[in-house]
Amino acid sequence: MSDTSQVTPDYNYKVVRQFTIMTIIWGIVGMAVGLLIAAQLFAPALNFDVPWLTYSRLRPLHTNAVIFAFGGCALFATSYYIVQRTCQVRLFSDKLAAFTFWGWQAVIVLAAITLPLGITSSKEYAELEWPIDILIALVWVAYIINFFGTLVIRKVSHIYVANWFLGAFMLTVAVLHIGNSMALPVSFTKSYSIYAGAVDAMMQWWYGHNAVGFFLTAGFLGMMYYFVPKQAGRPVYSYRLSVVHFWALISLYIWAGPHHLHYTALPDWTQSLGMVMSLILFVPSWGGMINGIMTLSGAWHKLRTDPVLRFLIVSLSFYGMSTFEGPMMSIKTVNALSHYTDWTVGHVHSGALGWVAMVSIGSVYHLIPILFGQKGMYSTKLVNVHFWLATIGVVLYIVAMWMSGVLQGLMWRAVNEDGTLTYSFVESLEASYPFYVVRFIGGVFVVAGMLVMAYNTYRTVRAPKGSFASADAAAQAA
Ligand code: HEM
Ligand code: HEM
Repeated sequence: MSDTSQVTPDYNYKVVRQFTIMTIIWGIVGMAVGLLIAAQLFAPALNFDVPWLTYSRLRPLHTNAVIFAFGGCALFATSYYIVQRTCQVRLFSDKLAAFTFWGWQAVIVLAAITLPLGITSSKEYAELEWPIDILIALVWVAYIINFFGTLVIRKVSHIYVANWFLGAFMLTVAVLHIGNSMALPVSFTKSYSIYAGAVDAMMQWWYGHNAVGFFLTAGFLGMMYYFVPKQAGRPVYSYRLSVVHFWALISLYIWAGPHHLHYTALPDWTQSLGMVMSLILFVPSWGGMINGIMTLSGAWHKLRTDPVLRFLIVSLSFYGMSTFEGPMMSIKTVNALSHYTDWTVGHVHSGALGWVAMVSIGSVYHLIPILFGQKGMYSTKLVNVHFWLATIGVVLYIVAMWMSGVLQGLMWRAVNEDGTLTYSFVESLEASYPFYVVRFIGGVFVVAGMLVMAYNTYRTVRAPKGSFASADAAAQAA
């Protein structure tokens, strides 16, 4: 048990503050690029005939910016905060913390320069060229040493479950990144993967899927297990379930990669294995979701007044939705319809925008007043405005993509009596246009919400210390 009479340790909040602010900035940049490519899909002239503004170059810029810059900074900020608070000790090394901050920002800036220039390894979510890959590996190793070093010097005997998820995320991402990025450089800006053919595909989707499983899921579950109980003011619903959730999730995810390669040259048994593991993955995923949502038992009324809690709980609902949809899409016969269509893009954003972005935003709103010495955010009303903008935006985005995706799948497989195709590809593209416009409108809502967040944060940070009432106090006063 921790000794509550002890003086609060002198935590390193500087690095947490830095990563928190960059989360908001990179969130705006990455999502704005997403908005531009969403517009290019129905108005291609928006590339202005400039090579570095073409869809092919901006799409990886979007994915790298939202996953690694926005999501990455959110993970660094929250993990450094959680590990200090739950271990009741300052970070193992301030120098390593500063190195991870500046190193990670350097990686992001290098990505933002090289990807529009067309410098790419062409592996999805691992596009960056070898010198940047080496920098990533160095930053990541420093991160691991700092995180686990802090666990080693902890002042409490227990290791809270959030740290288990965060530790698994860090270790697995290191193995994935180093394993998949193995390449032979031929110049400073060009290298070739050491893997070839079906082996390359298998490595790539072992990496790609576990980037989803560990970067976009396990790390954010760590975030969820800390901030949902904190914001709700309740202990986690079932600690036992959280431990079962952890072991089941990490032992299943690693096998599911081949569901990205159904009906390809990959051996058939690996595809079936990937499918079965994906189906079973539904169980721990929902166990985790239920554990998070049920943490609100006895505190449901807080949802009425606390928009930060709403962000966290709605993110869990999207997590549940996407982890129901994912196992369904991994069934080969369903995948025959969904693969290559916008259905996949809808699934991606129900996970990435609905779950990852919303849990991060909720956690950042929880953190900002604490980090900058305030009693609450400048405006709880604006947090609420952001919540609705984000929720409406995500729903518009994913519903549009589901409809477009199913339509595309059905049009591509429709055949006439004589066996010829009923529709040409261009006809299916034309049919998708209205949905692309709706997706764009959804994106405008989401980006507008992020700008509201930036303004609210600016006003919170700049105010004299000790300002503003907490959401709870504001609710009582209302
Ligand atoms: C305003 C918000 C956003 C907009 C407008 C947006 C838009 C887009 C668009 C237009 C694409 C390309 C789809 C295609 O090629 O058909 C895309 C892909 C992608 N986006 Fe976003 N996005 C947003 C936010 C996010 C966030 C927050 C994340 C992750 C945390 C994310 C992750 C991805 C990923 C992983 C892909 C690749 C999907 C695939 O290959 O199937 N996006 N996004
Ligand atoms: C039980 C959990 C999940 C399973 C079994 C699952 C399964 C799948 C399947 C079958 C695909 C389509 C592959 C294809 O046809 O190309 C897919 C794509 C994808 N999923 Fe999931 N999914 C799960 C959860 C999630 C979550 C929570 C996220 C985001 C946070 C996510 C992000 C993605 C991304 C980014 C892709 C697109 C990859 C690409 O082609 O570029 N998934 N997933």
